[in-house]
Amino acid sequence: MINVIGIGPGEIGLITEKGKKIIKESHVLIGGSRNLASFEDFKGEKLEIKNNLKEIITYIKENKEKKISILASGDPSIYGIGKYLTENLGKEKIQIIPGISAMQYLFSRIKMDMNDLYITSSHGKNPDIDYLLSHKKVAMVTDNLLGPKELAKEILKRNLKKQMVVGENLSYEKERITMGSPKDILEIEKYDMNVVVIYDEG
Ligand SMILES: C[S@@+](CC[C@H](N)C(=O)[O-])C[C@H]1O[C@@H](n2cnc3c(N)ncnc32)[C@H](O)[C@@H]1O
Repeated sequence: MINVIGIGPGEIGLITEKGKKIIKESHVLIGGSRNLASFEDFKGEKLEIKNNLKEIITYIKENKEKKISILASGDPSIYGIGKYLTENLGKEKIQIIPGISAMQYLFSRIKMDMNDLYITSSHGKNPDIDYLLSHKKVAMVTDNLLGPKELAKEILKRNLKKQMVVGENLSYEKERITMGSPKDILEIEKYDMNVVVIYDEG
């Protein structure tokens, strides 16, 4: 069985006990550099995910005798590696251990409910902005091309009454949460790794 473990937004205390136990018992840990860095003490083999997902799949298929854990940030099923692994290894071959998504973490920090939330991502796609902004409450994991400032500009262009929240480096020491109007969001020069929430004013 291949384990896909959601390790939460970053702070090691936010990973589940079950996830920690499986990682400890594993022969091989596979993950992006940020996720592997959280397990410096791990004694087994480590494989870094870069632009090598095909090679990773081949490695997993050729090393069936090893206990392998693949680390995913947040929750593997929310714009994470869970989908790719399920499609490429088969549902019956993997076990997914959920984690706290960066989105869930941000909503807890700002004490806002996630009811009726539209969840989306800008990673590797060109979202339909009109459709996105038609929702009362949206949470988006972002990439470098479409982030807080681009979204703020799209809201202003349409003259919509929306408020925004940007949660950067969530759960890390350098965490920053900025709340305000799209104009306020545009005043900050640069945003680091972030989740954006957009909601209707009033
Ligand atoms: C490929 S998605 C993975 C999302 C993840 N599966 C989850 O549930 O949080 C990566 C994006 O998640 C967001 N993200 C993940 N961890 C974060 C953190 N600690 N602080 C802010 N954003 C984070 C960023 O938008 C980042 O570009």
